[in-house]
Parts: sequence; C-alpha cells; structure tokens
Amino acid sequence: MWCERLHELCLTLLVFFCIVLECSCLTFKYHNNSELEQVLKNFTNSTTNIRTRLEKIGSSLNKIPLWAIELTAAEKDALGVPNIKLIGNIHGNEAVGREIILNFMEYLRTEYDRNTTIQWLLNNTRIHFLPTMNPDGFAVSHEGMCAGEYGRKNGKQGDVEDLNRNFPDFFHDNKIPRQPETVAVMNWMKRIPFILSAGLHGGAVVANYPFDTVKEERWKTLLRRIETVTDSQVEYEMRIQYLASIPINPPSLTPDDDVFRHLATVYSQNHLTMHKGVICDDGKKFQGGITNGAAWYPFSGGMQDYNYAKHGCMELTLEISCCKFPRASELPHLWDENKMALLRYVMEAHRGVTGQLLDSVTNEPVSRADLKIVGRNITFHPSNKGEFWRLLLPGNYQIQVDAPGYYPIIQEFSVKNFSAAELPSLTKMKILLLNDTIPTTAKPVTSSSSSTAVKWDFKETRIEEEEETTILEMNHFLRHFQYTADPNSEYNNGLKPNFFSCFLSMLVIEVFVFTIL
Ligand SMILES: *[C@@H]1O[C@H](CO)[C@@H](O)[C@H](O)[C@H]1NC(C)=O
Ligand SMILES: *[C@@H]1O[C@H](CO)[C@@H](O)[C@H](O)[C@H]1NC(C)=O
Ligand SMILES: *[C@@H]1O[C@H](CO)[C@@H](O)[C@H](O)[C@H]1NC(C)=O
Ligand SMILES: *[C@@H]1O[C@H](CO)[C@@H](O)[C@H](O)[C@H]1NC(C)=O
Ligand SMILES: *[C@@H]1O[C@H](CO)[C@@H](O)[C@H](O)[C@H]1NC(C)=O
Ligand SMILES: *[C@@H]1O[C@H](CO)[C@@H](O)[C@H](O)[C@H]1NC(C)=O
Ligand SMILES: [Zn+2]
Repeated sequence: MWCERLHELCLTLLVFFCIVLECSCLTFKYHNNSELEQVLKNFTNSTTNIRTRLEKIGSSLNKIPLWAIELTAAEKDALGVPNIKLIGNIHGNEAVGREIILNFMEYLRTEYDRNTTIQWLLNNTRIHFLPTMNPDGFAVSHEGMCAGEYGRKNGKQGDVEDLNRNFPDFFHDNKIPRQPETVAVMNWMKRIPFILSAGLHGGAVVANYPFDTVKEERWKTLLRRIETVTDSQVEYEMRIQYLASIPINPPSLTPDDDVFRHLATVYSQNHLTMHKGVICDDGKKFQGGITNGAAWYPFSGGMQDYNYAKHGCMELTLEISCCKFPRASELPHLWDENKMALLRYVMEAHRGVTGQLLDSVTNEPVSRADLKIVGRNITFHPSNKGEFWRLLLPGNYQIQVDAPGYYPIIQEFSVKNFSAAELPSLTKMKILLLNDTIPTTAKPVTSSSSSTAVKWDFKETRIEEEEETTILEMNHFLRHFQYTADPNSEYNNGLKPNFFSCFLSMLVIEVFVFTIL
C-alpha cells in the first residue's frame, strides 16, 4: 500500500521535474557580441544532421567580425537551389532580430528530423543568417531602450553612419562614405546569388517592401540638404518636417509590385499580430500590416532597394516590434509571433522560375547575359554558373535573354500555384543559346522592349578589396545521422528536451526502480 502511495507521489514529482527542466532550457536573452560569436561557433560544431558553414563576411568599423552562417541539406554543388538570407540588427539599437534569427536557426535544425516540410525546405534551399550587421551600434545600446536613435549607426559610439542609408541608390547619387559593414554585405551579394531576403528591424510592426527611394525632385533637394548634415537629431527633425509638408507620401512602386505585395502579405498574415495593423507610439496603422517603403516615408540608400534593383533579390524590411530593444522577457512571445511568418516567408523562395543558360553547341553555362521578364521593366543577371531565379505569382510569362555573342531569345513558361498545404515547386527551365557566329535561317527573336531594359550603372560602385573570407567550419553532411541534443550546448531555447520525451524516459526509470523494489 505504501508503495502505491509513494508511486503516485513520485509520478507527481516527475511531472514537476520535467516541467522545471523544460523551463530551464528557455535561455531567451540578448547575447552580446562575443557571446553571439560563441553561439554561432557552438551551433556549427554541434550540428550534425544538416550542413552548416560559418563565415566571416567582413568586420565592422570598430573591427568586430561580421559572422554569417549558412544552413542547408542540399547537395554541395546542386544547381538551381535558391539562396535566402536573413539579416538582423542593421540598426544597432534594434536588437530583437538578432535573437529571432538565432531561434529560427535552432528551430530549423531541430525540426529537420521531425517535420517533413522543414526537411524538404532544407533539402532544397540554402538559408544564410547574419544575426548582426551592426555589432558596433548594438554594443552601446541598452536593453529597455524602446525609442530614439542612440546606437542606431555604426562606430565606437554608434553614431557614424546609418547603414540602411549607405547603399548605392536606384535614383540618386549616394555620397555618404561607404561603410565596411555595407561593403561586406555588397561583397556577400556578389558572391552568392540571393533571391529572397529580409532585414529585421524594430520601432514598428509592419512588412515594408521596395522602393523606399523616390524619383521626385523635391525629395532629392531635401535629401541633399540632409546629407550635408551629420547630426542625427537634425536629420530626424528634417525628415519629420518633410513628412508634415506633404499630406500623403506617394508610393514608389517596383515593376514587381505584385510579387512584393504578396511576399509582404505572406509575412504579415502568418505573423500572430502584424496583419491586424499594430499601432505603435506614432499612432500609425498599416492596413493589413504591409506598406510600400516610400508610402510610409521615403529615403534613399536603403538595403532593400539595392538588393532588388542591383541583384534581383527580393528583400523586405520587417519591422517586428514597437519597442526597439525590449526587455529579454519579451523575447519568447516575439519569437512565437514571428516563427510561422519566417517559415512561410522562406518557403516563398520556391514560387516562380529557375533555370540555366547554356551554349547550345558546347553545353557550357553562359554567365554573362541580361535577363528580363517581358512586361517587367527591370533587368537581372544569371549566376556564374548561368543559373537564374525569379519569384513570380502564378501565370504565363515570357523570359527574354540577351547574351553577348548569342542570338537573343524569348522563351515562354508558366508558374503554377501552390497552397499552404502543399510543397511549392519552382518552374524549371533550360535555355539553350545559339552562338551568333553560327549562321541561322531562323529569324532571330527580337523584342521591341529589349532596348528599353533598365540598366543600372552605378555611379558609385567602387567596392574595396574583398576582405578575405574566413570559412570556419564545414561539417560533414551526415545524411542518415540522427540529431541528438548536445548536452554541452548551452544554446537551448526550449525545443529540447521535449517535455514528453523527458516524462517518458523518467517514467521508464521510475517503473524500473519500482519493479526492483
Ligand atoms: C559579454 O558578456 C560576458 C559576460 O556575460 C562578458 O564576459 C563579456 O566581456 C561580454 N562581451 C562583450 C563584447 O561585451
Ligand atoms: C569547434 O570545433 C573546433 C574544432 O573541431 C574547435 O577548435 C573549436 O574550439 C570549437 N568551438 C567551440 C565553440 O566549441
Ligand atoms: C511541419 O511544420 C509545419 C509548420 O510548423 C506545420 O504546419 C506542419 O503541420 C508540420 N508537419 C508535420 C508533418 O509535422
Ligand atoms: C531530404 O534529403 C534526404 C537525403 O537526401 C532524404 O533522405 C530525405 O528523404 C529528404 N527529405 C525530404 C522530405 O525530401
Ligand atoms: C523602363 O524604365 C526606365 C527607367 O525607369 C524608363 O526610362 C523607361 O521608359 C521604361 N521603359 C518602359 C518600356 O516602360
Ligand atoms: C560554447 O561551447 C563551449 C564549450 O562547449 C562552452 O564553454 C560555452 O559556454 C558555449 N557557449 C555558448 C554561448 O553556448
Ligand atoms: Zn531600423
């Protein structure tokens, strides 16, 4: 009899023990710059089920390394695998993105062995993470600082340049001296053909899509005045003045506005609160939780515009919390809010078309070409292996290829829809190009719009010598290796050990002990 009582008591204790154990794994906190480096190195060392690659893509103005990590289960040299990147903390005092990215990485690697959707995603995608683009600004920012510009920029005092105003602009000359962080990201984009991206910010809750920049002359003059002023407070006030001077900012739309609106909507609708139109301190409400950048407030030199116009990479600016640097106790619910949104967003990399340009005689990839989707007035380029990607909504399209030394060609294709319940699939194409020294009786395909394709020649494309890329780790890709929680890894976020597995294993031990008794 006493034994049964004891048994019950023991079971109750067990439940408590497992709950406590699980809670103790929730180390939601802000990792400072050296801890972040440790976490990324530990993550790389302890991941065995998927391939991870940690690389230093550059250094901050204050010489802090910029660490990027790649996660994939795709074959190393597989063609047509889309590259995605997620960048956090471009504004040093907007800190949530750093930790959200770490949680997302952990989530993906843990779920790889449990969930076929995530397994499929990692089998077919290369996802790159840069948790912080501005470690300098972060180092001088403080937890609990919800508003203000302190620590927003780079440099020892976090007051040198705003990195999200530092990229070459589509419409204007950007005279702001290019910062090492900006150069690092530009070089990173030159190396890897990213097609989908997001920059994580704070201070609002909205999915913002290009363009931020506007062609308008009036804005241009104001911009010039702002550029000559270094005091951020003055800049801020001038911006407010400008905003007050026009009742509604006209949107500045890209030729791929349908796709951008869709991407922003996917994020917003899968975010727990964004789609409701969260109102922060400025009282602004965004319909559906999305906005065109310029319609909110225009500026030039932003990262998302550069991604799209220069590299054909569709990037959103995701504002994910009203408070720029909320208390760490807010992190668990911020992670919950963004988890599904991030997952659905990265799946979108598989909506559209991918293909390869090949020489029809030699079958060698053609990497120099101007590509255009007919009706969309913007040019993009293939990767150095001749691969190309374009995110597109379901429909029928034509792609136009102008490669030097080859006859121009237009090829048709269609993009199928996929619902949230099914796996997406990119339309795959192989485009054979005929060398124009080979005489042909066929009339070469020409297009009336080919001569008007936008070519973005940068007035300021001077990119400094590429900093040597340090590749730290390349884990063996152990395909059939079951992932086991690394007991030494301090970086746990509550995904392991799971309550039920804990309970089950303890139950087994308990029953065993009682059997002996
Ligand atoms: C990060 O925090 C640890 C202790 O938590 C401290 O030892 C270390 O100096 C800090 N590093 C930086 C760069 O602030
Ligand atoms: C990761 O592993 C490498 C070699 O295997 C080791 O040099 C390094 O210290 C490890 N890093 C961490 C953070 O455990
Ligand atoms: C995999 O994860 C996604 C996202 O959480 C979820 O919608 C789906 O139901 C999961 N699938 C399985 C088989 O668990
Ligand atoms: C992912 O790739 C592995 C290794 O090729 C394969 O065994 C597994 O079935 C794939 N999973 C999915 C969902 O495609
Ligand atoms: C394409 O865009 C460029 C630059 O914005 C513009 O000058 C040109 O008129 C546009 N062409 C067409 C056909 O819309
Ligand atoms: C990383 O791993 C090392 C060695 O296992 C450990 O000492 C360190 O605390 C870990 N750091 C983090 C941030 O997980
Ligand atoms: Zn920001």
